[in-house]
Amino acid sequence: MSDDTLLDQVKDPANRADPYPLYARLRETPVARQHDGTFVASTHAAVSSLLHDPRVSSENLPAADRPRTGNPFKDWIVKPIRDHITDTHRPFIFRDPPDHDTLRAAVMREFSQGRVQAMRRRSHGLVAELLDKQGEAREINVVDDLAYPLPVTVICELLGIPSEDEPQFHGWATQLATALEPDSLDDDEVRATNSRTFDDISAYMSGLIKEKRRHPQDDMISGLGTMGDYDLISTAILLLVAGHETTVNLIANGMLALLRHPDELRRLRDDPGRAPGLIEEMLRYDPPVQFRTRKALADIPIAGVTIPKDAPLVLLLAAGNRDETAFPHADRFDPDRRGVRHLGFGGSLHYCVGAPLARFEAEAALVALAQRLRDPRLVEEPPPYRPGASLRGPQRLRVATAGLR
Ligand code: HEM
Repeated sequence: MSDDTLLDQVKDPANRADPYPLYARLRETPVARQHDGTFVASTHAAVSSLLHDPRVSSENLPAADRPRTGNPFKDWIVKPIRDHITDTHRPFIFRDPPDHDTLRAAVMREFSQGRVQAMRRRSHGLVAELLDKQGEAREINVVDDLAYPLPVTVICELLGIPSEDEPQFHGWATQLATALEPDSLDDDEVRATNSRTFDDISAYMSGLIKEKRRHPQDDMISGLGTMGDYDLISTAILLLVAGHETTVNLIANGMLALLRHPDELRRLRDDPGRAPGLIEEMLRYDPPVQFRTRKALADIPIAGVTIPKDAPLVLLLAAGNRDETAFPHADRFDPDRRGVRHLGFGGSLHYCVGAPLARFEAEAALVALAQRLRDPRLVEEPPPYRPGASLRGPQRLRVATAGLR
């Protein structure tokens, strides 16, 4: 008999530092019903199959419901209109075809080769600036000093957000990332704060979009000008949020894996050409996004069970990545694997649009850390983790060093 509380245990912060033994138990039942009716897919085959299944929907956000203010005009007139607009213009990660495909295609066109390559070069400069700031430090915190500031600057510059406005995006991005944690949606206080943050960032974006429509420049928001205002606002917010904590986690989880495998850290220092293979293995071994949620649109027979119509689904990408049938010695960190079909960026229709950015930001950060930190050592083992079970990563990653080169 399978344990139908395993997902609760995965969400329990006590298991945040190492959820992988729980994932191994979940894989014994490839699609497992939990006590609350949620179905969890955990083998590589089951997760891949459901990612590709058109009977599986990403439109699983509860309806927008801003908190009441006590002002009858705002509560009875303004609130229903704003809630309706929010619902009908969700970010495309929470939308199904055909709207999803149209919005996504517009964004993909903006990730031109030239723009991505220019930002790749720029990210090396940004990493150098951030590490130079450490001066004579004998300890750095990889999360706050490097992993956190880098992705926000990259995405703000791509979108065309003026640099003086950038600091407020750190707070906004961190707050809104909690909306990607399924349980946060049940917490009234978190939902109220998210609504306020969403309204603040929307008001900011709306002003910026007006300005860009009047004076278009060579940036993504100007390039997406054919979208309607509300879709453009939600798309810009999505790009900011989806690329932030995820990239922070890739750099932090990646550096953690290197500190735990010092031979690999040395090999990277001596041969930066190893970075792409290392990063693919990091995305498999300890991925920044551990799972994504969905909803069944029909009864779906799979792996000996039938997922009933309307059932909530959890696709455990990180468990699929440790499936022995897909990856021999799956629990071993082995950057020399070839042809890794990991699930770290999802798959199919919603495959991560920021994957090239994430890869080169992580490469710039990890190569610089390997080359510039003299005698780096992990200070806390394991490091403390942030609360999120889905977007999972260290709260801080303290590294002692004999100094920076
Ligand atoms: C290491 C960093 C990253 C990881 C691990 C990651 C992971 C993912 C995953 C797993 C998905 C699939 C979501 C699903 O199936 O529901 C996804 C989608 C997405 N990602 Fe990323 N991501 C990263 C960085 C970025 C960056 C830098 C951007 C910003 C440009 C970005 C933008 C997006 C968007 C817009 C989607 C939605 C795609 C769609 O619905 O069609 N991501 N990402």
